[in-house]
Amino acid sequence: MSNIDIEKYFKPDLKKARKRSQNAIEELHFKLSDAYQKIGVNSSYMIHTYGCQGNEADTETMAGILELMGFSKATSEAESDVIILNTCAIRENAENRIWGELGRLKSYKKQNPNLILGLAGCMAQEENVVERILKKYQYVDLVFGTHNIYKLPQYIETAFYSKERVIEVYSQEGEIVENLPKIRNHQHKAWVNIMFGCDEFCTYCIVPYTRGKERSRAKEEIINEVKELVVDGYKEITLLGQNVNAYGKDFKDEHYTFGDLLRDLNDLGMERIRFTTSHPHDLDQKTMDAMRDCEHVMPYFHLPVQSGSNAVLKKMNRHYTKESYLEILNRLKTTVPGISVTTDIIVGFPGETDADFKETLDLVDQAHFEGAFTFVFSKREGTPAATFEDDTPEEVKKERLYILNDRINDGYLIGSQRFLNQTVKVLVDGVSKHDEHVLAGYSEHNKLVNFKGDPSLIGQIVNVKITVAKTWFLLGELL
Ligand code: SAH
Ligand code: SF4
Ligand code: F3S
Repeated sequence: MSNIDIEKYFKPDLKKARKRSQNAIEELHFKLSDAYQKIGVNSSYMIHTYGCQGNEADTETMAGILELMGFSKATSEAESDVIILNTCAIRENAENRIWGELGRLKSYKKQNPNLILGLAGCMAQEENVVERILKKYQYVDLVFGTHNIYKLPQYIETAFYSKERVIEVYSQEGEIVENLPKIRNHQHKAWVNIMFGCDEFCTYCIVPYTRGKERSRAKEEIINEVKELVVDGYKEITLLGQNVNAYGKDFKDEHYTFGDLLRDLNDLGMERIRFTTSHPHDLDQKTMDAMRDCEHVMPYFHLPVQSGSNAVLKKMNRHYTKESYLEILNRLKTTVPGISVTTDIIVGFPGETDADFKETLDLVDQAHFEGAFTFVFSKREGTPAATFEDDTPEEVKKERLYILNDRINDGYLIGSQRFLNQTVKVLVDGVSKHDEHVLAGYSEHNKLVNFKGDPSLIGQIVNVKITVAKTWFLLGELL
């Protein structure tokens, strides 16, 4: 394929993606035009989802749109007419997995030349990814990004009927689109987007480029969505945003922030309200007070710290210090007694010394986290940290991760043990993977609990007396 052909596509541009416009964000309402309504009849789709809950929620929207177009969910890849990979770009290993998947799916394309193979999500927002798809993965028919999911009907139509490759990625966020259809993946738990994008620009992170400017959904839209979920029998919602603590900070004529939203949602009859994820720098007392006062907001907080070294935090552009993080954490624990706190930590950030790493271990000791996602720094092209000098050998980084995980596991176990002999409320998710007579669900503090019980309890909140506390889960007896 010549370069001229390649230029006709709408490709991502990281420099553009870094810009933040002052333009007001428009609200659009999705409506499927009649022309698209029957396209999918007698055809089926499959979507593979990678990455964070934001992507899981986007997949539910893609499925909703496809089903409105008449598609049904396929039971196998071999029988699918459309396969979409909804991808994640957060670390190199996440991407490598997806390149591998694309390679594997090539054989289905050979078996069924009419199959539409699509790549969506955060990887699609990256320049180098789209270049590679154009040059080396000619069998990928469709590439679209995180800002234009609502245009899926058009893209599918073009790919179906004109057999043209469709590559359309916007590098600047557009509108907030409401009224999108959704096929929710769970029966009693639901994701609710409250905001999109991220303006933090942590120097290692690709998300502000792949998801665009921070923009909040109107509170009325969120409240209406939650009211509908209550009517539909949902028991738990998780409010989603890259930094939910910044909710509402972009509203021009209204002073309404995350704490206000929690209070309003608490009154709607939803049993459990969770949220993810939060930036320590934006966590305010108003949010903590709302958590204390709202019985339906769960006593669990994921508060990524990333590092315990002030020098590293500064280079990461995190806007807090080890001391100020511990202070806010203590305020949270004092305001909401018994709250369970987990975190994210990166080791091996460019220039991280042994002394820096020891600061992280010391912070972990002081913070008493009850769990953490831990990562080795991964270079993301286009982010500032990709150009920082990095002379720590990979083995040293891996060793640090190993030591850190050991320390984190101690915290997990202590976090579990505090529930021994206590009665906890569990929302029953399903049957255990290992034993069909055992049910599994999560407690209010977000601990995985296993206990013997009848599958008819799935979707209900039950009392369980904890008898055994392990690092990763609790065992108990149904009361
Ligand atoms: N918005 C969320 C995080 C989204 S990414 C927040 O700030 O909490 C989830 C986690 O991935 C981050 O918290 C960070 O620990 C990790 N991460 C992000 N970019 C990374 C990179 N380049 N290398 C390694 N880990 C990274
Ligand atoms: Fe990435 Fe930082 Fe935004 Fe989280 S807050 S998504 S780590 S830039
Ligand atoms: Fe991955 Fe994009 Fe989420 S990079 S973590 S899917 S915001």
